Amino acid sequence: MTASTTVGTIPVVRGAPVIGSVAELASDPAAFFVRCYAERGPVFRVRALRRTLTVLAGPELARWMGSREGQANLRSAEVWQGLVDEYGATRTLTGVDGAEHRRLREVMRRGYSREALDGRFDELLAITDECLDRAWRPGTTVPVVEALQLLVTSQLGTMLTGTVPTEYVRDIRTTILYILNALVTRQRPEIILHSPVYRRSRARVQELGEQMIRAHRAQGPRSDGRRTLVDDLMDAHDADPGLVAADDLVLALTGPYVAGLDTVANTLGCLVHAVLAHPDVLARIRAEADEVFASGPLTEASLERLTATSGAVMETMRLYPIAVAQPRVANRDFEYARHLIREGEPVYCAVTVPHFLPELFPEPLRFDIDRYGPERREHATPGAYAPFGKGPHTCLGKGIADALMTLTAARIFHRLDLALGPGDAALRRRAAPTPGPVASFRVRVAGERRARGA
Ligand code: HEM
Repeated sequence: MTASTTVGTIPVVRGAPVIGSVAELASDPAAFFVRCYAERGPVFRVRALRRTLTVLAGPELARWMGSREGQANLRSAEVWQGLVDEYGATRTLTGVDGAEHRRLREVMRRGYSREALDGRFDELLAITDECLDRAWRPGTTVPVVEALQLLVTSQLGTMLTGTVPTEYVRDIRTTILYILNALVTRQRPEIILHSPVYRRSRARVQELGEQMIRAHRAQGPRSDGRRTLVDDLMDAHDADPGLVAADDLVLALTGPYVAGLDTVANTLGCLVHAVLAHPDVLARIRAEADEVFASGPLTEASLERLTATSGAVMETMRLYPIAVAQPRVANRDFEYARHLIREGEPVYCAVTVPHFLPELFPEPLRFDIDRYGPERREHATPGAYAPFGKGPHTCLGKGIADALMTLTAARIFHRLDLALGPGDAALRRRAAPTPGPVASFRVRVAGERRARGA
């Protein structure tokens, strides 16, 4: 925001003695930031143990983050430095800024784009069916998040890297969990990184990355002409090791899992609950899914006919955003909404606060999949809807994420008859580090509506 003459004192949300607002941040950060925004306005500070976080919020924020001014005032480097150091790397996409970020993003753009799925929807469907047959058997109760993690790892692995490291799922999950908690969001002390469980998982992820490099080197040029993110990254390394260094490869090659596994699995977990809790929505998703899956090979155009499913995905991302705020550091002293932020201050850009404002989304807590249709388009108001973040680091995999979630949700409800358990009328969630359903959330597979291939 442009400089002004009056600079106000940033209001501080004090919270409880000593711990500050730790409990609110851990249980439902979105609801907490919405309340703070309503009471304190677009800039406020929150205390959490010994740390004080400066939070920016409100519909103006999205545009500002993408503006020249916003980009010059914020940087990402320190936020991800712990992750980079932990991998012995020199840089990672999320932690670079400016021209270097643009160059690195361009290297990964094609591999992370929706084009990576072109002509491969039936393959994606086969992977999905295989996972449903294995882990969602009729008569069993399924741990939803864990089962979805397996499914998403198979999907992302095949589509983005050409390998399916299902035997590494737990290691990838543990590594992400510990690193995000201890080194990125800093909700846990760094000492947890000494735990044998973490050290073992981290070593296994290293092994996976090194295997991917060896497999790429051994394979030579692809015979099917189908390039993946791995090919693009390895070629970029060979052509310009100054941009993609040898030490950065393991982190970059396993990046799809860091970025895509928890995000998609947790969002789909919330969606499964929301849809089962709304039988009218379930009926609409089933009707369109039955029609689309009965009408021949799946294409990009088939996905466009899944309008209720897509509405449910969008509504889930609105109500249960996995990235409530984008963490940054002030790159220089700057003013935002007539408040002075000092160079080096950690700044949280809470771009999802508008998801809960009734002036943008009437009855904001209602799960309403019709908000996004041509008559209403509630998400289209500038600054209203930002589940994939805003600014130069906006999710690079959002096209893939959308397609994966729409197709998977449609397939699950087309094939299976699922039921919530008696204790699960309300979705129980946890927030650390990626918000999502609690690990104990289970559904019962009451029956199979359609067999594989039907
Ligand atoms: C529900 C699904 C997803 C959501 C809500 C989501 C959200 C986000 C958000 C908010 C950011 C910005 C983080 C920041 O600025 O600090 C981001 C970045 C990113 N996402 Fe996603 N994401 C999802 C799935 C995926 C998937 C499936 C992939 C790829 C496999 C992916 C790849 C990336 C990458 C590579 C970045 C870094 C972009 C950059 O730094 O330039 N995401 N995502």
